[in-house]
Amino acid sequence: MSNLEILELDPADGDLVSGAFEVLRASHAADHPDNPAPHEGKFAKGLIHPTPGEEEHTFIAVKDGTVVGIAEIGLPMRENLHFGWASIHVRPDRRRQGAGAALLDHFIAFTRGRGRTELTLDTLMTWEDGVARDKAGQEFLEKRGFKLALTSINRRCAVDALDADTEQRLLEKAQSAAGDDYEIVSWLGRTPEELVETMARIDSTILAEVPLGDLDLQPETIDAELKNAKADRNEAMGVIPIQTVARHRASGEVVANTAVFAYDDTEYEDAFQGITIVDKEHRGHRLGLLLKLVNLRLVRENFPQVRAIWTDNADVNAPMIDINVMLGYEIVDAMGEYQIKFAE
Ligand SMILES: CC(C)(COP(=O)(O)OP(=O)(O)OC[C@H]1O[C@@H](n2cnc3c(N)ncnc32)[C@H](O)[C@@H]1OP(=O)(O)O)[C@@H](O)C(=O)NCCC(=O)NCCS
Repeated sequence: MSNLEILELDPADGDLVSGAFEVLRASHAADHPDNPAPHEGKFAKGLIHPTPGEEEHTFIAVKDGTVVGIAEIGLPMRENLHFGWASIHVRPDRRRQGAGAALLDHFIAFTRGRGRTELTLDTLMTWEDGVARDKAGQEFLEKRGFKLALTSINRRCAVDALDADTEQRLLEKAQSAAGDDYEIVSWLGRTPEELVETMARIDSTILAEVPLGDLDLQPETIDAELKNAKADRNEAMGVIPIQTVARHRASGEVVANTAVFAYDDTEYEDAFQGITIVDKEHRGHRLGLLLKLVNLRLVRENFPQVRAIWTDNADVNAPMIDINVMLGYEIVDAMGEYQIKFAE
């Protein structure tokens, strides 16, 4: 492609932002329409409000005035300074013309120029009896020497997957297993001020607990300031957390946490399961199942437009998958995280 240009997307340039979003919209429609659609408002606002603790750059490939591809790049700035990730999409009607390769070259040069040595890119893959996915992304990455480092399975659960009696029975079973040692607290939106410190503590354990495959990632330390900055970003993007935690009565600490994220958009029918984590010392009391069921009810009550919740779990995360299957989650596809490492 001779006259292909790679530019950094200026969030204030409405035409280019729309063109970039169109790449994501058309890719979703062509490649995986059964997954949640990208949301234009969230995309545009996310450009103006990057993820706290990360440097984010969005590059676009433009040909003859049309945005034909996009590379969304993230560089962690607090920990994992060796790391850089990206997600690349090319308009379905402009594929096999070199735009993807040009964006990939740019990603590698850009992140290597910032001293990053471990780079990752993701692509959807077929998983078991889920929906078949095109192999273009895998072929594209493997050709350039990237290796599959982590596979996460995407599952979908209708918000009314369980009949009311079954759901109630499961809830009661989980409540009696949890006993009286824990206070269950739920909220929508920002974490209540008095819980921010203890929530930051449990959030900091996430990367150490979640299976990461061959990714060489160190746990992040999440403090109250970072938590508040993330909450500001969610508010700015119209993303509403629905959160339920277990507070250990004896210590006052939050020892288990689950969150679902919905969009502030009455037309948007999907919501996203975030992390669920139970502190090591408090496992075995069905807290994970209990919190998820309480949170599911909150989603239904507060977001009647939401029809399904989506989750992704590392293929080796058996305990979490067992809970999800019990709740009615079904396999859709998988996300492959491909990695390449460079010498310093
Ligand atoms: C993967 C993707 C970004 C490739 O974009 P593209 O502009 O078509 O890629 P290029 O034209 O630069 O292809 C570069 C090379 O990748 C390989 N490749 C790309 N698409 C392929 C396909 N469908 N089948 C086999 N090999 C393919 C080829 O080796 C190709 O070189 P060639 O055309 O000289 O044979 C595009 O298909 C896409 O947007 N897919 C959906 C999103 C996705 O999976 N992204 C993940 C990759 S980061």
